[in-house]
Amino acid sequence: MNSPFEFGSTVSDKTFTNRVKELSRLKSNLTSGVNTIIISPRRWGKSSLVEKVTNEIRLDHKTHRIVIIDLFSINTEEEFLEMYARSVIKASSGKLSEWLDLAKSTFKRLMPKLILNTDLGDISLEFDRAEIIRHKDEILNLPESIASEKGFKFIICIDEFQNIVNYDADHSFEKAMRSYWQRHKNVTYCLYGSKRHMISDIFNDSSRAFYKFGDIILLDKIQRSEWVKFIVSKFKETNKEISELNAEQIAKYAQDHSWYVQQLSHYVWLLTSKEVQEEIVKEAFDQVKYSQQPLFEQTIENLSNTQVNLLKAVYQNEKQLTSTAVMQSFHLGTPNNVRKNIHTLIQADIIDKVGDSYIFMDPVFQNLFAEIA
Ligand SMILES: Nc1ncnc2c1ncn2[C@@H]1O[C@H](COP(=O)(O)OP(=O)(O)O)[C@@H](O)[C@H]1O
Ligand SMILES: [Mg+2]
Repeated sequence: MNSPFEFGSTVSDKTFTNRVKELSRLKSNLTSGVNTIIISPRRWGKSSLVEKVTNEIRLDHKTHRIVIIDLFSINTEEEFLEMYARSVIKASSGKLSEWLDLAKSTFKRLMPKLILNTDLGDISLEFDRAEIIRHKDEILNLPESIASEKGFKFIICIDEFQNIVNYDADHSFEKAMRSYWQRHKNVTYCLYGSKRHMISDIFNDSSRAFYKFGDIILLDKIQRSEWVKFIVSKFKETNKEISELNAEQIAKYAQDHSWYVQQLSHYVWLLTSKEVQEEIVKEAFDQVKYSQQPLFEQTIENLSNTQVNLLKAVYQNEKQLTSTAVMQSFHLGTPNNVRKNIHTLIQADIIDKVGDSYIFMDPVFQNLFAEIA
């Protein structure tokens, strides 16, 4: 029997749990034309939530066409426009033969080419890169033109949206996008990304183009009690047994971080033949922990000495990081250094400020920290 836990990619089916309120809010937003922004740290479950909602919309809203674009490796405006145009065209029709017609009729001067990849049995659309920028307006309006011509609606989901800030220094592309997109009547956008501070800056800064673009969902962690129910039921489904206490210990080690809860549950499941023993949870956590060790050693290597010292202070639960006593005992440099380093570590999503304390964002990094720093 296979493990009932999943952590490699997005989950939207059997291993998806909870998120009841967020599911219904996102679904009703997207089907009623409310642009939505989702913000959370990485691996808490944004992409899974969007996948789940859009799968449901596909099933029961036949007039909606769904586009999902990941900007993870899209680093220029040209690449963005090409990906955007291609994804919109592909989502418009299930028939490959219609793509070229659609592409040709919408872009009279752009002359897209169909590239047939016989190995993969896939067809891709390519455009002349130099022409693409000249037709920026046409491309940014493409979903609205197709939707109004064909009588359907588009829901366009863009993952790792914060990458758009790398496209130019003066945010002019951002302004162009917003100015077209806000006039679209048949297109709804769902924009999300894991660099929380960059995403917040894009949508919460009144001088930026995307200010007040839509409903902002701050995705929380799934509650511990929900994780316990989920873990216990998955063990039961696969004819193994775990007590609520041990399930709770899994969620506790993982600090309710979605990806770690699933991963740790998976290792516990693999190590258990019938019934989970307390020592197995500890052993599995060590497995998870040491599998992440090289990654976090690398993280530490990339930090300056004063930044690592600052993490040591955070690790010791120090709150007054700019007080003379803390700065001296941890060798943090000047108050200015400390403020800059706090900012850098928060921007890099290594630490966060909650109330008046600082916390590690990654539960495993925190757990390993004393051993590797
Ligand atoms: N609703 C959920 N129920 C159960 N596990 C989840 C859920 N959402 C996320 N996960 C776990 O977290 C992992 C990362 O989720 P993902 O959606 O890729 O996060 P993000 O897009 O925020 O980085 C998934 O592979 C899965 O293991
Ligand atoms: Mg994601």
